[in-house]
Amino acid sequence: MNSRREIIPITYRLAPALLLAGALLLASAYLASAGPLAQTADEGRAIFEQKCQACHTIGGGRLVGPDLQSVTTRRERAWLLSFIGTPDRMLAQGDPIATQLLAENNNVPMPNLGLTQSEVESLLAYLENPAGAGQATTQPQAPTQVLPPGNYARGWKLFTGEVALVGGGPPCMGCHNVGGIGRYGGGSLGPDLTQVYSRLGEPGLTSALANFPFPTMAAVFTGKALDPQEQADLLVFFAQVDAQGQAMPPAVFDRYFWFWGLTGMALLFAGMVIFWPRQRLSISEALRRKR
Ligand code: HEC
Ligand code: HEC
Repeated sequence: MNSRREIIPITYRLAPALLLAGALLLASAYLASAGPLAQTADEGRAIFEQKCQACHTIGGGRLVGPDLQSVTTRRERAWLLSFIGTPDRMLAQGDPIATQLLAENNNVPMPNLGLTQSEVESLLAYLENPAGAGQATTQPQAPTQVLPPGNYARGWKLFTGEVALVGGGPPCMGCHNVGGIGRYGGGSLGPDLTQVYSRLGEPGLTSALANFPFPTMAAVFTGKALDPQEQADLLVFFAQVDAQGQAMPPAVFDRYFWFWGLTGMALLFAGMVIFWPRQRLSISEALRRKR
């Protein structure tokens, strides 16, 4: 009898300790699962800013590639895992979504960035909940930079190497052709850039010139970024080459613009002379008919 009475109080006395131990166990289990998750989303954010942001925004519109807002609801997780990790292999295997995406993006492929499986997982954790990562309350936006006014002739000279790049990078012409430039054309290691302005779009090309987010170019231009003036000059150069379909030497380009500038003004003037009185005539004619 006595011993039984003693046992009950002991379990009562132990109960709080047991509860506490249980709570601690649960809490540590919770922390063990929640901790790394939050951490991978943070990690994903860091990788995104370093490797993706030059081509993608999250809710800021398209750059070189599509806006990635809610991409994790648009696509299956398994597809995203393989595509972000090895987009080139997906394309080579004829994956229908990858093929369609390429067509929708003017045949600009997403490069294989050599990410590890765990980096891709972190990126997905971040893309699933961009606002939740770190203390960041704002989502990353397109890296906007206001460029100074650009100049065609300077862009041409930077492209050909007639003027050296400030950062010490090699001239574009060593690896790229553009609009049949020069007597022998440019190099062929990189793609032909005649239509690059419309292929990447102005926001995409602007970002590309500021960051060179393409694997080969990134390696060549590490620590040798273009300065804002060079970016602006090349942007104007590419826009004009795209519009004309050819890269005119600066002197020809200037003459061409004088010619079309003057011709355009003459045409405008002629149009005014020809059409203005006629329209007035036809109005008075219409009034006369009404009466
Ligand atoms: C050089 C530019 C570039 C870089 C850098 C880049 N992407 Fe892309 N990305 C693209 C393009 C272009 C597409 C469109 C697909 C295509 O044309 O093959 C795309 C498509 C995607 C898609 C599919 C979008 C959809 O609507 O289904 C995802 C997801 C994606 N990229 C994630 C990333 C992530 C994550 C990174 C960074 C690790 C990254 N991209 C880096 C250019 C880029
Ligand atoms: C050492 C060779 C090399 C030099 C020099 C070089 N590029 Fe490139 N560029 C490439 C390669 C290769 C690619 C294809 C993507 C990749 O693998 O990097 C490329 C891709 C590009 C693209 C993307 C084209 C597209 O349609 O997807 C642009 C834009 C570009 N280069 C601009 C330039 C400019 C501007 C310069 C000069 C300031 C330059 N490149 C100098 C090798 C070079």
